[in-house]
Amino acid sequence: MSQITPILGPKGLPLVGNLFQLPRDSLTQHFMGLAREYGGIFSVNFAGYRHPFICSAELVEVVCNEKRFRKLISPPLTTLRPLAGDGLFTANGDEPNWALAHRILIPAFSQRARRLYFDAMREMADTLVVKWKGAEGQWLDVSADMTRLTLDTIALCGFGQRLGSFASTNMHPFVNAMIRVLEEAMARSTRPRWVNRLSVRAKRRFRKDIAFLHAFVDDVIQKRHMTPSPVKDLLGLMLEGTDPISGEQLSDTNIRYQVITFLIAGHETTSGLLSFALYFLTHHPHVLARTVAEVDSVLPSGKTLMYEDLEKLTVVEQVLEETLRLWPTAPAFSVAPYEDTVLPGGYHLVRDQRVTVLLPALHRDPVAWVRPDEFDIDRFSPERRASISPHAFKPFGNGSRSCIGKQFAMMEAKLALAMVLQNFEVTHDPAYQLIIKETLSLKPDRFHLKATPRIRLAAIS
Ligand code: HEM
Repeated sequence: MSQITPILGPKGLPLVGNLFQLPRDSLTQHFMGLAREYGGIFSVNFAGYRHPFICSAELVEVVCNEKRFRKLISPPLTTLRPLAGDGLFTANGDEPNWALAHRILIPAFSQRARRLYFDAMREMADTLVVKWKGAEGQWLDVSADMTRLTLDTIALCGFGQRLGSFASTNMHPFVNAMIRVLEEAMARSTRPRWVNRLSVRAKRRFRKDIAFLHAFVDDVIQKRHMTPSPVKDLLGLMLEGTDPISGEQLSDTNIRYQVITFLIAGHETTSGLLSFALYFLTHHPHVLARTVAEVDSVLPSGKTLMYEDLEKLTVVEQVLEETLRLWPTAPAFSVAPYEDTVLPGGYHLVRDQRVTVLLPALHRDPVAWVRPDEFDIDRFSPERRASISPHAFKPFGNGSRSCIGKQFAMMEAKLALAMVLQNFEVTHDPAYQLIIKETLSLKPDRFHLKATPRIRLAAIS
């Protein structure tokens, strides 16, 4: 038996451990503070259950070995199961529908398929540009508008639904219900069980919202059954696609869960990415100037952005990657070992023990990154990109359970950021201090910009 190194962590109280020391609205930032204090591994005591967090590239290499560890569906993902069922995000790897849906849906995210989404993505980014042009001189709530943009984009590209979020100050009822469910799911995962049991009104609201969301999506599915669309979107693929191995198709219930999954996974994270990117750009004027110069050279004098232009926007891409390094908008994922395991350094894990990879801390691992807290887009320059360890940068998760929508998200974010910079000079409130809003994902809170049109008569051609 090798020597056991204890996994250190903050001292807790009898019975409840660290439970009552956890700030519910800033958990990720609290854990990042623990990472700074304890280094690459620390543990938090959730009422007697010691939960290790991993923050170093050296240890991530081990826990991301899919022969030894698998994705674990644990809170807050378990609290989302009533909503998203065995959809891709919340399914255990050994549930038959995960592999079935994974195989059927992979072609929907291929390069060829992404080309088909381009026009719809650009159309939605145009609606943002139109809104901002009409709001000259006003302070714009960046995260709120980016959420409108990304939700409308996935709803249109994925399911042919026009949510029209920019058309009114009120969000679509579907969106409001989804936001409430996500907030309650998050809150449930940090409340003691007995508090959850006693929260009768919250439980009732949660159930009612989920029933509404399911009914909304079921209706979309039924309508599509009755009137198939000539447009190839995610829903079409789910309804018609067959598994190349078994020949099976997805059931309507599973399609409902997948639609909900894509609506959730497909917007919050990309919206946060765009908002953080604008935060960093406005706070680093020289990087902003470099990025605008690239946008101007690729899109001179109001030229409409075309699919082929995307690959030329390399500085925009570097900005997005460096943004995801410092604030990975899906900040953690959990895995568990198939067998009892010893990590480098002598840390023992028992079979099935939940271990969480804390991405903002990993992305600041001082062994893997030089001046980790500095926003430096040249880390991702073509020359230096290859020297980044794959174990030090995992904003899209790991292996077979990594993000199926990664390329979709990067294309959407690149397109939207380029169109914003092509059309507007952006300025921020110099008094603003970054506040992070934590739900299932991260985003800057109360971050406002003024967007002054650069080319008054062009751009939406
Ligand atoms: C910047 C944007 C995004 C980020 C940072 C992000 C991040 C992630 C991460 C870290 C995971 C792994 C989670 C885990 O292991 O528990 C994941 C999984 C997933 N993401 Fe994303 N994501 C983004 C955008 C999207 C988009 C646009 C879509 C859909 C169009 C999407 C759909 C999914 C799905 C379905 C999964 C589950 C995959 C599986 O387990 O089979 N994501 N994402």
